[in-house]
Amino acid sequence: MKHGGLISFGTGCAIALAAGWLVFPKVIYTAERQPFAFSHTAHTSEKGGMKCEDCHSLAADGQFSGIPKLEQCAGCHAQPVKGSAVEKEFIANFVTTGREIPWQSYSRQPQNVYFPHATHIKLAKLQCTRCHGEHGKSASLEPVQRNRVSGYSKTIADRHMEMGDCERCHAENGLKNSCLDCHK
Ligand code: HEC
Ligand code: HEC
Ligand code: HEC
Ligand code: HEC
Ligand code: HEC
Repeated sequence: MKHGGLISFGTGCAIALAAGWLVFPKVIYTAERQPFAFSHTAHTSEKGGMKCEDCHSLAADGQFSGIPKLEQCAGCHAQPVKGSAVEKEFIANFVTTGREIPWQSYSRQPQNVYFPHATHIKLAKLQCTRCHGEHGKSASLEPVQRNRVSGYSKTIADRHMEMGDCERCHAENGLKNSCLDCHK
């Protein structure tokens, strides 16, 4: 009998672990669809011929433009250039109506965190891929997964960029990691 108890304890643990690894991660994240399937490759491939800076620019004062506004798309897409279903949907819903596209960021940090792109791109000379993976070559858009408890989005990589990730790289570069460097 003791033996049988041990087996069912083991089975119980296995079920609990499986639930934790397989089911729980799906339950704690919401999956929110992007407004439409924007394709980076359509624009950044040789045929598209655009550079990252054409849409994500750094102003002289260090201000990073982030995700481009509709007006940066509308010039080229006043008329269909490719004529695909997704482009027609984009033109009908946004270009024609002038409604701003409600993009959601995959890397949004909490309000109290200060992250300057200029410092990392210009001074530290880091590539976009170091923190964002191959998003600049994506042909479609994954749903944005947001943790129901913290509200933080998973990045393209597989999870949210956490305080420890920032601090690790800063320490490797001999930075002091004072709280007020990153928190406002
Ligand atoms: C400099 C001109 C230019 C700008 C600016 C531009 N596009 Fe495009 N876009 C293109 C071209 C050219 C293609 C077609 C590429 C091809 O034929 O494969 C395209 C394709 C597309 C498609 C269809 C993709 C597909 O696979 O069917 C969509 C949707 C789209 N663009 C949306 C946007 C949005 C949103 C913006 C602004 C963030 C934008 N474009 C900015 C030139 C531009
Ligand atoms: C035609 C304009 C256009 C060009 C050119 C472009 N992007 Fe984007 N980018 C967008 C739009 C629109 C979004 C918002 C939708 C999305 O997440 O893909 C975006 C989002 C991103 C994000 C997502 C940030 C986040 O976590 O939410 C990254 C990273 C990015 N772009 C990197 C790049 C890189 C790297 C290149 C050059 C290889 C590039 N982009 C070229 C329009 C552009
Ligand atoms: C050191 C890491 C790092 C590097 C390098 C980096 N990013 Fe980011 N990026 C982030 C973080 C963190 C956020 C979230 C910022 C926030 O929420 O305050 C972000 C947000 C974004 C966004 C979302 C829109 C927004 O609100 O700004 C875009 C677009 C983006 N990055 C594009 C790029 C591009 C293009 C490059 C390369 C030229 C790049 N990033 C390089 C870490 C990085
Ligand atoms: C891959 C490496 C790397 C990652 C990841 C990274 N940083 Fe940095 N960061 C740097 C480097 C290197 C510098 C110093 C650049 C210089 O001054 O030459 C820096 C500088 C800064 C500064 C300016 C500090 C000052 O006092 O000058 C802030 C703020 C900052 N990072 C915030 C963040 C935050 C917030 C995150 C995480 C969301 C982050 N960083 C992730 C490499 C990184
Ligand atoms: C290199 C940048 C960096 C430094 C230095 C830093 N933080 Fe953070 N901190 C972050 C980022 C990014 C987040 C949000 C992501 C996360 O929760 O990990 C955060 C989140 C937090 C949170 C909230 C946790 C949550 O889940 O909401 C607290 C509290 C905090 N930091 C306190 C501190 C204190 C105290 C210090 C100094 C001892 C410090 N931080 C130094 C980047 C930094």
